[in-house]
Amino acid sequence: MIGKIILADKPKTITPYLILIICRFCVYLIMRIDLHKNVILVTGATGGIGSAIVELLGEYGATIAIHYYKEKERALDLAKKAGNNSKIFRADLSRPIQCVKLIKEVLNTYNRLDALVNNAGIYESSPINRDIKRWLKDWNRTININLTSVGVLCREAVKYFIKSRGGRIINIASRAAFRGEDKDHWAYGAAKGGVITLTRTIAKEYGKYNIKSFAIAPGFVKTRMINDYIKRFGVKSIIKQLALNELTTPQDVAPAVLFLVSGYMDHTTGSTIDINAGSYIR
Ligand SMILES: NC(=O)c1ccc[n+]([C@@H]2O[C@H](COP(=O)([O-])OP(=O)(O)OC[C@H]3O[C@@H](n4cnc5c(N)ncnc54)[C@H](OP(=O)(O)O)[C@@H]3O)[C@@H](O)[C@H]2O)c1
Repeated sequence: MIGKIILADKPKTITPYLILIICRFCVYLIMRIDLHKNVILVTGATGGIGSAIVELLGEYGATIAIHYYKEKERALDLAKKAGNNSKIFRADLSRPIQCVKLIKEVLNTYNRLDALVNNAGIYESSPINRDIKRWLKDWNRTININLTSVGVLCREAVKYFIKSRGGRIINIASRAAFRGEDKDHWAYGAAKGGVITLTRTIAKEYGKYNIKSFAIAPGFVKTRMINDYIKRFGVKSIIKQLALNELTTPQDVAPAVLFLVSGYMDHTTGSTIDINAGSYIR
């Protein structure tokens, strides 16, 4: 609850800011989340959810390896905001082989990696009546970005974590993994289902190496990813599908990542946290 008050509201006068600072200090004293000396790679850091994750982890002292694809300026801004010697790293995740280089570059820069947050993703429609060549191209692109690259990044991180004696992986999946997707997004649903199983496999097989692996499954989150949906159907149509009365924002997702990387949630390894405003309760 404290997190909600601290993170969601944007106060306009000085008093709420003071309360906010006092609350944060209390959370620090009670929970002692201190990510100084932690190097965390966040993919898709320039997107809606990624930016909120970077900003929050930065506030708790983490050094963030900020991955981006096209939005270099946004990435530079974020690095400045996050502070703690955070730096930017580019990779095109539609070419999964680039993930090997990405992890190498992060390790060469910081000489350590404590956590990997696989957040980058695309949501592109591909109706089944498309020409098969085009449909397969779409399928492969989504699977490459949303699943294969996640797999390669996990592989490289796990190999390093075995040597470094531990680490954490947080994979951003989707409620689609459990509920299924709509008819124009087969590949998206399939990729997110794969991400959940990948997360469980790593948790099950590498726990003895002190490696923990978690998934987060958001529902609708107010980012550019759902701009088209909002344009077509409107926010009201989304809110009708929720148990809550407001659309989830990136700031509602970021605190889950903070807790997962903090170590407070280690015994939930292999599990998935649903963040969907009650639109799909399992
Ligand atoms: N928003 C939702 O409703 C929702 C719901 C469930 C799950 N999710 C999941 O949450 C994660 C973040 O989504 P979001 O809503 O924050 O999306 P977003 O705002 O559209 O951001 C997408 C991010 O992915 C990066 N990206 C796109 N194509 C890439 C490529 N070829 N190579 C490398 N990076 C690439 C983008 O980098 P650049 O900007 O630098 O190009 C951007 O940082 C995704 O995995 C998504 O599936 C979102």
